Amino acid sequence: MSTIDVRVEKKIVEADGIVSLELHAAGDAPLPAFAAGAHVDIHLPNGLVRPYSLCNAPHDSGRYVIAVLREPNSRGGSLAVHETVQVGDVLSISMPKNHFPLVAAHRSILIGGGIGITPLLSMAQTLHASGSAFELHYCARAQSRTAFREHLLGSPFARNVRFYFDERGDAIDMAEVLAAPAQETHLYVCGPAGFIEFVTASAKRLGWPDGNVHFEFFAAPENPGEQVNTAFEIEIASKSIRLTVPEDRSVADVLLDNGIDIPVSCSQGVCGTCLTQVLSGTPEHRDMYLTDEEKARNDQFLPCCSRALSRVLVLDL
Ligand code: FES
Repeated sequence: MSTIDVRVEKKIVEADGIVSLELHAAGDAPLPAFAAGAHVDIHLPNGLVRPYSLCNAPHDSGRYVIAVLREPNSRGGSLAVHETVQVGDVLSISMPKNHFPLVAAHRSILIGGGIGITPLLSMAQTLHASGSAFELHYCARAQSRTAFREHLLGSPFARNVRFYFDERGDAIDMAEVLAAPAQETHLYVCGPAGFIEFVTASAKRLGWPDGNVHFEFFAAPENPGEQVNTAFEIEIASKSIRLTVPEDRSVADVLLDNGIDIPVSCSQGVCGTCLTQVLSGTPEHRDMYLTDEEKARNDQFLPCCSRALSRVLVLDL
């Protein structure tokens, strides 16, 4: 996996519990270009790898900006960014990847919940620069927890932005915002799982075609319901070996324990980094990344979280 070394040029407190990092190339080579909606995997000093959306404008070349919420139940990723990473540090990051790209449209509606604003910020700047019609709806618990608020209020597209704060009892009116589904209008949503489910369910109810609704999860749902793990086997096609995946281990854990290196980032079935082809057997998909159609094909799965319905899964590794 090729990585890029970047230097932390700035670390700014953007709101309560949210810091941004501005990253510059550590060597002579410029940073690769990216498109709105892209993220990079950041290799943190504690060994964890975490995906973060790029929130600056793609045409604002020479830097990447990410923003990170300090998660109360952090498994170490957001904590490392907040407490360990400092200005001047050099970090390894992946090339930008984009699973949440903008598509050409007459009009775009961007709806962000909390820290889910980050990819939408990049989108808003891109849409503004290209003269496209768009509106940005930003829902947050409180003004003090609203990253980039001043930046948005001072932006040349401030009139396209609307804020909603739980503390003021503001609630986004989905029936109003999503009132006019049209073939040429696309909706983009990012935020916590419950927020995305609320917006996408509203869009469905209001007649939005699935193909016009795009979303990216920041984290898997906190309570995915009762899921019982059973042991199964995986076969590594290129090596003709079989390994047992016990109830309390993921496929990714077992692969890494056995020296089979696969890229892993979010470990929650959200980012798609660990996507692996399945040659035979039936996966039990538990991710938030693949579409229903992709899951139904059963020819790929996310080994950081998904398991097997068949006794054996043969993996194209
Ligand atoms: S590592 Fe993110 S989906 Fe598996």
